Amino acid sequence: MANTLLGERGILGVFVMLPMQVSAEDFPTFITGLRALKNFGGAVVSMPHKIATANLIDELTPEARLVGAVNVIRRNGDGCLIGTMLDGEGFVSGLVAAGHCVKGARILLVGAGGAASAIAFALAKHGCASLCIQNRTLDRASALSERVRHAYPHLEVSTAIQATSHYDIAVNGTSLGMKADDDLPISKSFIGCCDLIADCVIAPEMTKLLQEAANQGKAIQTGVPMLAAQMALMLAFMGAE
Ligand SMILES: NC(=O)c1ccc[n+]([C@@H]2O[C@H](COP(=O)([O-])OP(=O)(O)OC[C@H]3O[C@@H](n4cnc5c(N)ncnc54)[C@H](OP(=O)(O)O)[C@@H]3O)[C@@H](O)[C@H]2O)c1
Repeated sequence: MANTLLGERGILGVFVMLPMQVSAEDFPTFITGLRALKNFGGAVVSMPHKIATANLIDELTPEARLVGAVNVIRRNGDGCLIGTMLDGEGFVSGLVAAGHCVKGARILLVGAGGAASAIAFALAKHGCASLCIQNRTLDRASALSERVRHAYPHLEVSTAIQATSHYDIAVNGTSLGMKADDDLPISKSFIGCCDLIADCVIAPEMTKLLQEAANQGKAIQTGVPMLAAQMALMLAFMGAE
């Protein structure tokens, strides 16, 4: 997606996006190395490194500081690494572009990692009515709820889900759905309590969750618009203009 956009702008070759695979163990060393790499403009950070990145680089934008995670890094001429977080705005922009409304919506968010945290703060910023956060590791859901509540004291934020609840939008912000044998992040019966099901997972684009939601006649939103909506902003942040 990035290289296509660079090509359309006639600067593919001046800049190029390359995949780099780094283990969590080697990630701190990798980040140190980036400071020395003079022809490195920046990087898009993906799972599972977004939260770790926020603690390893030199400066965070206010958005990244609020979320506590980074999805884009830029290297300044002096070697300093600066990070921002665009996942949340990308997610909301993707929804709005598809004609959905966040303002006033009751939302179920599953996940409490880098992407889900960014989405939680962006949904709060864009005026959702309530936010229920669920996560496999309950402590992380509670900590994220607390941080969102602190930043948006008037927003109804909870970690309690009830079978009788109804949600305008349910979001999968976990990595469940990337593997064929993954469990559904939202149970079949609970999908029935939600009007729109949105997934962050990009590959496969049509996850089991979205397939099940479509079978139940629900509106769906794949993970691709979330990334597409932030691609131009990512390149701009890295100076690839
Ligand atoms: N469309 C886009 O533009 C876009 C942007 C960003 C991310 N994403 C996608 O969003 C997903 C999450 O990315 P991330 O960066 O937030 O990753 P992350 O920080 O590593 O967080 C992973 C999340 O998934 C949960 N999880 C992982 N394995 C699980 C399992 N077996 N059962 C239940 N929960 C599980 C984790 O729960 P615990 O806290 O319990 O570990 C955590 O909430 C990935 O699929 C990523 O590709 C898409």
